[in-house]
Amino acid sequence: MDNKHVLAPDDVLRHEFNRWADQGKGEEMEAHHADITHKTLQIMELRPGERVLDLGCGAGWATRLLARMVGEGPEGFGQVVGLDISDEMIRRARAASRDFENIMYVWGSAGQIPWEENFFDKVLSVESFYYYPDQDRVLAELFRIMAPKGRLFILINLYRDNPYTLRWKDELKVPVHARSIEEYVQLLQAHAFQEVEARQVPDSTPSPETYSGRWFKNVDELNDFKRIGALLLMARKPDVRNPGPAYTIY
Ligand SMILES: C[S@@+](CC[C@H](N)C(=O)[O-])C[C@H]1O[C@@H](n2cnc3c(N)ncnc32)[C@H](O)[C@@H]1O
Repeated sequence: MDNKHVLAPDDVLRHEFNRWADQGKGEEMEAHHADITHKTLQIMELRPGERVLDLGCGAGWATRLLARMVGEGPEGFGQVVGLDISDEMIRRARAASRDFENIMYVWGSAGQIPWEENFFDKVLSVESFYYYPDQDRVLAELFRIMAPKGRLFILINLYRDNPYTLRWKDELKVPVHARSIEEYVQLLQAHAFQEVEARQVPDSTPSPETYSGRWFKNVDELNDFKRIGALLLMARKPDVRNPGPAYTIY
C-alpha cells in the first residue's frame, strides 16, 4: 500500500527525508545551499552568546556554522538547537557534531516545536519552510519560541517568483507550497511579525561550461535560476512576552 494514503503529513515527511538521509543527501545539500546560506549568515549579525534555532537542520552543516559564530565570547556562550522531522538526519547531524559543546539536536516537527516560549534570539531555516504542511501553525510556533525582538530568517529556493524551481514541485514525493514573495510577506505580517522584509539572494557559485542535469535545458537556464536566486524572508518578533489574543499557545 502507498504510505502517503495512511500516514499523517509529518510521518510522510519523516519517511521521505529519512530516505534522503540514507542516500547521503543531507551532506550533499551543503554544496547546493552553502553560497546562499553564507550570504544569509552575514545578514544575520550573529553574536557570541546568542541562542539560535536551525529549523529543518538536515545533516547539521549550517547548525555547526551557527555554533561557531555564537560560541564563547565576551557576551557569553551561545547555544544552537537543530530541529528536524527526520530522525535519520538528526542521527547523522549528531554524529558529525561530537566536537561541539553548544549544539543540541532535537527530533521533532516544526508544527510543534518542543521548546519553551520566548527563548531564541534568532531562527534560521534553510530550504525547509515550503515543506511544512501547515505554515500558519509553524509561524505561530516560531512566534511563541522566539525571544521578544528576536529575528527570523527563512531561506527558500522554491517560490513562485523563481519559475525554474516550480519544476521540482511535481517531482518531489511530498506536497510543497509554492507561494509568491508577496503572499509570504502577507503571511508573516498576518502572524504579527514586524519589520517583514523579502530579499532575493543570488547564488554566485560558478556554473559548469555545459549543463547535463535534469532541471535545466542548458547552462543559460541554470545561470538565470541562480541570478533570480533564493528568497530570504526576514522578520522580527515584537517586544511582547505574551502573544496577542489571536494566538494560541500550544
Ligand atoms: C531540503 S532539506 C534542507 C536541510 C538543511 N537545512 C540543508 O540546507 O541542508 C529540508 C529539511 O527539512 C526537514 N523538514 C521537512 N519538514 C519538516 C517539518 N515539518 N519539521 C521539521 N523539519 C522538517 C527535512 O527533514 C529536511 O532535513
